[in-house]
Parts: sequence; structure tokens; C-alpha cells
Amino acid sequence: MPGSAICRKTGNAMSNQQPIGVFDSGLGGISVLREIHRLLPAENLIYVADSGHAPYGSREPDYIRHRSMRVADFLLEQQAKVLVVACNTATVHAVEFLRASLPIPVVGIEPAVKPAANLTQTGVVGVLATQQTVNSPRLRRLISEYANDVKVIAQACPGLVEHVEAGDFGSEEVLRLLKHYTLPLLDAGADTLVLGCTHYPFLSDAIHAVTHGRMTVLETSTPVTHQLMRVLDKYGLRQTGGAHGEVRFFSSKQGEQHHTSMQTLWQKPIDLGLLPASHV
Ligand code: DGL
Repeated sequence: MPGSAICRKTGNAMSNQQPIGVFDSGLGGISVLREIHRLLPAENLIYVADSGHAPYGSREPDYIRHRSMRVADFLLEQQAKVLVVACNTATVHAVEFLRASLPIPVVGIEPAVKPAANLTQTGVVGVLATQQTVNSPRLRRLISEYANDVKVIAQACPGLVEHVEAGDFGSEEVLRLLKHYTLPLLDAGADTLVLGCTHYPFLSDAIHAVTHGRMTVLETSTPVTHQLMRVLDKYGLRQTGGAHGEVRFFSSKQGEQHHTSMQTLWQKPIDLGLLPASHV
């Protein structure tokens, strides 16, 4: 019921001025954060990049759950009213655990398999994702539920996340990796490409260059933001009003180069806080 959200942990009523917590294994979730900020400019936002522990995509599922919980705990301490898991890998391996453990609503992100299945003309869809997303039963379920009548080729893409984390969006090595991952999809007849990792939208230009625009590329930041709006409205937690919300940034990694990469992706100066040692 609108206006009646109660924090299950404290029993206190939540206020719509409390921030929305958004996290990713690293910088990729900024692609989602940008869309949230664009469509919900009045909301206060807190972003956590767990870059000190990235990439999640090559870690064991237990580790991904453990890190996701650590970061979520920090965001709860910052009074987050809703948690957005801006990471496909953390969503497929940890979102159910987070929903069961946290006293606030949790919004996850999943590869756009369903829209891709509706869109393809050739009947072949490619999905680029991390190894742990490709391995996950949840992706298999998504494919069998929504894309049964099309061929879905899920391609793990080791290396791409590390390049984005390092602020490299189009070096020779990035182009080589992207060719290696996408050309077999084109050869197999794919006309639609799902970006199943929130780091990959930052490689869109490079993807377009190596595929010569021969695939329609889908990512999920807009649908996730729409889902977030539905959740905020359901619990009466949407912040309205003309003023611009505050956006704060934290990371589990230090360093000037990291800070610079983050600002490049956010396209504005950032005052970056370090995730407290208790959460690292
Ligand atoms: N950005 C993340 C995703 O959407 C994960 C990248 C990683 O840490 O491997 O899957």
C-alpha cells in the first residue's frame, strides 16, 4: 500500500527521501545508475563499486553471495530504502538470497533474452555475459521459459570486464577479444545480441565497430529502471519534486586511475568514498 513501507529490520516506516542503493562488482553498474538518475532525477542514490573484488564472473557462486551481502549490509547502514543489484552475475547467483535476507525490496537485472527472442528475424540470438552468468541455472531457465523457439548462444567473455575496469573501452586488445566473441555468433546467423553484463554497454561502440552494425544490440538499464519505478510506487517510496537528488559513490578499491575511470563513466567529477574495512 502506498506510503506504508515498513523496514522489516527496524520496524520503522521508511521515508521516500532515503537513498536507493545500487551496486555492481565494479564500474559496470554505472550504466544502470546513469539511467536511474536520468529517469528518476529527484532520487538520492548511493553507488557501490566492489572493484576490489572484481570480476565476480570468474568467482564461485558462494563468494558472489558473500560479497553481495557485505555490500548490501553497507547500503542498509546508509539507510537504503531499495537495493538495485546492477550486476547480472550477482543477480543470477545472489538475488534470491538477498531477497530472503534483507528487510528492503531488491531489484535485480537479467539478460534481455525475452525481448531478443521476440525481436530476432533469423531465429538466432547471441548473449554475451560473464562465465558465471553463462554457467547459471537461472540463465538456462530464462532461455527455456522465454526463448524456447529460438536458438540462443550464450558466450562467456573473460577479459572484457577487466578492460572496462581499467578504463579501456576500445584498445586493439579489446577489439581482438570482441571479434573473438562476436564473429562466431554472426557466423551462426545471430541478428540480435544481448549484453548480459552491465560492463558491456561501455563497449557498445567497439561492439558496433567489430560487428559492422550487423546485430541489434540490447541491454537492460531502461527496463530495470522501469521495474525500480514499479517497486518504488508499490511501496509508496518514490521521491518526487523538482530538486535533483544527491548521488554518492563508494568503492572497495583505491587509486587515482580507478577514480578517473569512474568519473569518465559517470561523465562528472565524483567524490569517491572507500568502502569501510568492515565491509571489504
Ligand atoms: N557487471 C557484472 C555483470 O553484470 C559483472 C562483471 C564481473 O564482475 O565479472 O555481470
